[in-house]
Amino acid sequence: MTPQKMPTILVIFGAMGDLTWRKLSPALYNLLLDNQLPEQFAVIGLDVKEASQDKFHQRLKDGASHFCQCGSVDDEKWKGFTPNVSLISGNFADPALYASLGKQIQAQEKTWECPANQVFYLATPPGIMETIVKGIGAASLAHDKQHIRIVVEKPFGHDLASATTLNGVLTAVFDESQIYRIDHYLGKETVQNILAFRFANALFEPIWDRRYIDHIQITVAEQVGVEHRGAYYEHAGALRDMIQNHLMQILCLIAMEPMVSFEADEIRNKKVDVLRAIRLIPENQVEHFAVRGQYGAGRINRHKVPAYRAEPNVAADSSSETFAAIKLFVDNWRWQDVPFYLRTGKRLAEKVSEVIIQFHPVPHQSFPAAAALAWQPNQLIIHIQPEEGIVLRFQAKHPGPVLQLSPVNMDFSYQDTFRTRSPEAYETLLLDVMAGDATLFMRADQVEGSWAAITPILNAWEKTLPADFPNYPSGTWGPEAAETLIARDGRSWNPSEPTST
Ligand code: BG6
Repeated sequence: MTPQKMPTILVIFGAMGDLTWRKLSPALYNLLLDNQLPEQFAVIGLDVKEASQDKFHQRLKDGASHFCQCGSVDDEKWKGFTPNVSLISGNFADPALYASLGKQIQAQEKTWECPANQVFYLATPPGIMETIVKGIGAASLAHDKQHIRIVVEKPFGHDLASATTLNGVLTAVFDESQIYRIDHYLGKETVQNILAFRFANALFEPIWDRRYIDHIQITVAEQVGVEHRGAYYEHAGALRDMIQNHLMQILCLIAMEPMVSFEADEIRNKKVDVLRAIRLIPENQVEHFAVRGQYGAGRINRHKVPAYRAEPNVAADSSSETFAAIKLFVDNWRWQDVPFYLRTGKRLAEKVSEVIIQFHPVPHQSFPAAAALAWQPNQLIIHIQPEEGIVLRFQAKHPGPVLQLSPVNMDFSYQDTFRTRSPEAYETLLLDVMAGDATLFMRADQVEGSWAAITPILNAWEKTLPADFPNYPSGTWGPEAAETLIARDGRSWNPSEPTST
């Protein structure tokens, strides 16, 4: 039996919460539809909220129909899924809750007449995670290293110190091999494909360094605002919410050295090497390397939207950033002095996540100046979402007697090529946890390395409150200062454009 087909009990802490509703339930339903779940599969939800079993089932079904790509839930399929789905309500600090959980796990194993894989999924606010881990430990529910795993959602800590403490609490109860720290960007097909693109092709690796690459841009732009997550976001901000994890992970995939094998730890070692090589920004120079912003009122797709400070659970004088742009250097032979520009923000002009690899100009321009007016250096664009694909931009001669060069695109689109649905990140990640494959999950040293890299910025921003917030209207590309950050180096952010021509 393949490991992911082993009898499995998924224990969700925070089962009535937003993440379960929005991400886990639709992912489980898609896996069910694709026959990817083990035949013997049970969900035990835990939540502080009191709710009947029916209400819990209804909540999961509601999430699946809202967010599953299939649009609606098939009643028959769903009925087959729910008999092994149950909720235990209780206080996460109460040992009795863990005793009930233990009993229920035992009862399920007895019914199946075999030991089950158990996946504890912490889909809770970060403040309660340590209590839960200690509760699991005190009830001796974690000892079976082979069958028991724990999934920890982001945010993983609030800064380096709290992340290190959380790692300490986790490793006091679980072995590192049992711990799966999620960064859902790593589950996206287009992000996983970065490794395939770089290391399954002989073409790109020889030019993947400072000799050929001028700079790299990583953009994750969202049109949504903070939605109903004001209370969380007020303490997070864009740097913690997006850059510390998702953008840094993409940076690692772009910058890492080739792995020797496809082992989880080999790949993670190579990523940690990148994080260790990131040049620390001196705290008193942060303003030259990092820009923060907060959205004001504006329009998204012609609809008026409120300012961040007018969102629910947000302070009227909030200084949380909803936009961050930073410039980093990776100090090693491959990347010395190649800037990595990272930016992310909410309520931006478009929803687009992409990586731009900008190559150097040709060393000598031999074409007549008039022919090369539209000439641009080569560019490789990795479209992560919503477009999924890769574009290589190079120069071509216009047909006709006049010598004229201009950039053209060589275009690979997932949709057009594979004509199949890309699984949602959470589907991939849930299957990987069940299979015991930690490649797409973060190890303790990765999380800490990433916090260490942004700590000077966090410190500097905490010490000086932003005087100009809100400093960009919703529906734009962020504050002027983000343009200046890159323009000072004689460069500009790449205007986004769809893959399909
Ligand atoms: C989450 C952040 O990790 O990623 C959210 O907390 C953000 O603020 C989300 O909206 C973006 O994810 P995706 O998959 O929609 O790009």
